[in-house]
Order: sequence, then C-alpha cells, then structure tokens
Amino acid sequence: MKYFIVTYGCQMNVHESEKIAAILEKMGYSEGSSREEADIIVFNTCAIREGAEDRVFGNVGNLKKLKKKNKDLIIAVCGCMTQKEQTAQKLMNTFPFIDIVIGTFNLPKLGYYIEAVKKGRQLEILSEGDIDESLPYKRTSGENAWVNIMQGCNNFCTYCIVPYVKGREKSRKEEKILDEIREIISEGKYKKITLLGQNVNSYGHDLKDGVTFAKLLRDICAIEGDFTLSFMTSHPKDLTDDVIDAIAGEEKIEKFIHLPAQSGNNRILKLMNRKYTREKYLEIIDKIRAKIPNCRITSDFIVGFPTETEEEFLDTMALVRQVKYDSIFAFMYSPREGTVASKMEGQISDEVKHDRVNKLLSLEKSLQKETKDED
Ligand code: 5AD
Ligand code: SF4
Repeated sequence: MKYFIVTYGCQMNVHESEKIAAILEKMGYSEGSSREEADIIVFNTCAIREGAEDRVFGNVGNLKKLKKKNKDLIIAVCGCMTQKEQTAQKLMNTFPFIDIVIGTFNLPKLGYYIEAVKKGRQLEILSEGDIDESLPYKRTSGENAWVNIMQGCNNFCTYCIVPYVKGREKSRKEEKILDEIREIISEGKYKKITLLGQNVNSYGHDLKDGVTFAKLLRDICAIEGDFTLSFMTSHPKDLTDDVIDAIAGEEKIEKFIHLPAQSGNNRILKLMNRKYTREKYLEIIDKIRAKIPNCRITSDFIVGFPTETEEEFLDTMALVRQVKYDSIFAFMYSPREGTVASKMEGQISDEVKHDRVNKLLSLEKSLQKETKDED
C-alpha cells in the first residue's frame, strides 16, 4: 500500500505534509514514487492566491483517469483551500471521484476519514481545532527540521485569507517546543532548525505566561549541540528590539530575516491594515543593519492592491531600491473571497498588475546584478 502527497504553498504546508506522511505510515502505507503507483493520493492545498487554487483544480481533475483504472484509489484533499466551506463543496461537486475533503483543523483525524471512506465520501470542516501534539512528523527536508511554534494569525491584513482558514493565533507551550527540539538534536542528523509560524514575533502573546519570542530563541540556543536556528515569518509591527538583540547576540541564530513590507506607500499600508508606516519599517531596517552587520534581509510585496495608483506603486519600487534586499517576492494582488480588500472599490486590472509586477521583478533583477558586480 503506497501513498503520494502533493503539497502546495508555504513551508507550513510542507511541514504539515510531514505530519500527513507520519499518519499514513502509522496506518501501514509506505511512500510511493508517483501518483500512478499510489493507493492513496493526498493534496495538501494552499488558498493564498487564486493561482494556487486553480492549480489544485487542474491537478485534481487530471486524476480522473487514474481513478478509472484503479477503483480502490483513495483521493483526499485537505489544507487551506478546503477550510473554506464553498470551495470544499465545489471540489466535491466538480469531482465525483474525490473521496475525502477535510479542512485544516480535521487533519489530525485523517486516519479516521480514510477508514470511514468504506462507508462513503467524507466531507468535514471543523471551524477550529487545537494544535495536535500527539503525532510525530516524518521529517523530509534533509538536514533541516521544521518546528511549528504556533498556528493561525490575528492580524487580518485586509488582503489575506490566512486568519479565515487557519483561525486565531495559538502558541505551543514553550516546554513542548524545547522538548521537540532536544529530541531532534539528539537524533544527530539535523543541523538546522527552522521555526514556523505566520507571525513568529507574536509567539507567546496568547499564553500569558510571560514567554516571548526572544526568550524562546534564547532558550533554544541554550540547548547543547551543533545546530543553526532560523525562523519565519516576521511581521514588522511585532519585531521587537529584544528579538533583534537575540539574533545579534546568539551565535546559533542565522543572520537572516524575512520581513515582508507588502508596500512602500503609507496609504496602501493603511488600507492593507499592516499597522506600520514606511518610515517605521525603514527604522526597523536601520536597526537591524546597525545591530546585525551582514544580516540578509528579504521581503514580500503585493502590487495592484485595490486603488493603488502608479505613483503609489513607485513608492514600493523606491523602497526596494532603498533597502537593497537580498531578495524579494513580488505578487500580484489576488482578491480572496471573504476578505475586506476583495470588497473594496477600485480593483486594479490584470493588465496593470502584470505591468507592475514585471517592473518590480526587473528592478529586483537589476539590483541583484549590481550587488554581484560589486562583489
Ligand atoms: N494576493 C496576493 N498576494 C498575497 N499574499 C497574501 N495574500 C495575498 C493576496 N490576496 C502574499 C503576501 C504574503 C505572502 C505569503 O503572500 O505578500 O506575505
Ligand atoms: Fe496574512 Fe497578515 Fe497574518 Fe501574514 S500577518 S498571515 S499576511 S493576515
């Protein structure tokens, strides 16, 4: 009995697929090398932009032939896309050969749904769930071990679907995280630990036991062993001096921060509900540069947010030029149903979005070339 997992989206999903693999192996499945030889195929989906969802619809659709050949093949779809009731229903209706559609919070019970398939197709979406501490992961990223420190997000950036599909922020207890890392290090094969969370800098706020992200970083570094530590993603509004000092002072922490700015224009940042200004963001960058020489800094940007003018877009270009990032990701704004921005007047045409994203990416390319030439 073989399984095959198809993962879309961010590192959190890559890590979540490691849990799916562990669940399936516990049930007696082993990893297959292709969809063709699988007895169960799991799609772990992403909902962040429309393109990600379109790919899932296309790729799931392609499985029809396989299901025809092998009637016992089980097809399961889970992850952020299925956490949206309408999309989950649409998947079920469009593809009668899908056996299981479950939301992100049902994932720990995947085994139960696979058993239940004998009785018929399974569709279930819980609106909220706790972090599952009961199952191990099948670690698949070589020398790097992902460690989840929290789930969900409280920020409600107006363009973002994450708070709707992942729920509110919930931090894992520090002791559980430290135990997991001690165990990883004692195995001897991992050289790098990467902490994961939508907004790692607000780690611990919900625990109300005084633990902060900076404390967590320091406590992890105190674990004996030869390893490096990194983390993502940081929200500029929560990146404290204490965290910057921890990165600067702790040898084990990689000198790298992914600090998404999203826009370089204050009116757009406000509309995005990012809770910082361009000036505040630049202040943080200056602080990082002063305290952590040679720190690599990367960022995400969204172009074509509703009502964004050409001039406002040029503020983003100028910010990118000014900060001299090590690299950036540039995305065309994608309206996500249910978010505040998707209902805003002044949606920007695809043509303009394409034009802006191309301009931003070619700026990024030319800046990369400049730094290479300097080297
Ligand atoms: N449209 C385009 N990009 C988005 N992102 C999040 N939501 C959207 C959206 N609706 C981007 C942000 C975030 C990254 C992971 O994805 O830049 O930092
Ligand atoms: Fe989305 Fe904003 Fe939360 Fe990041 S901080 S997951 S962009 S709502």
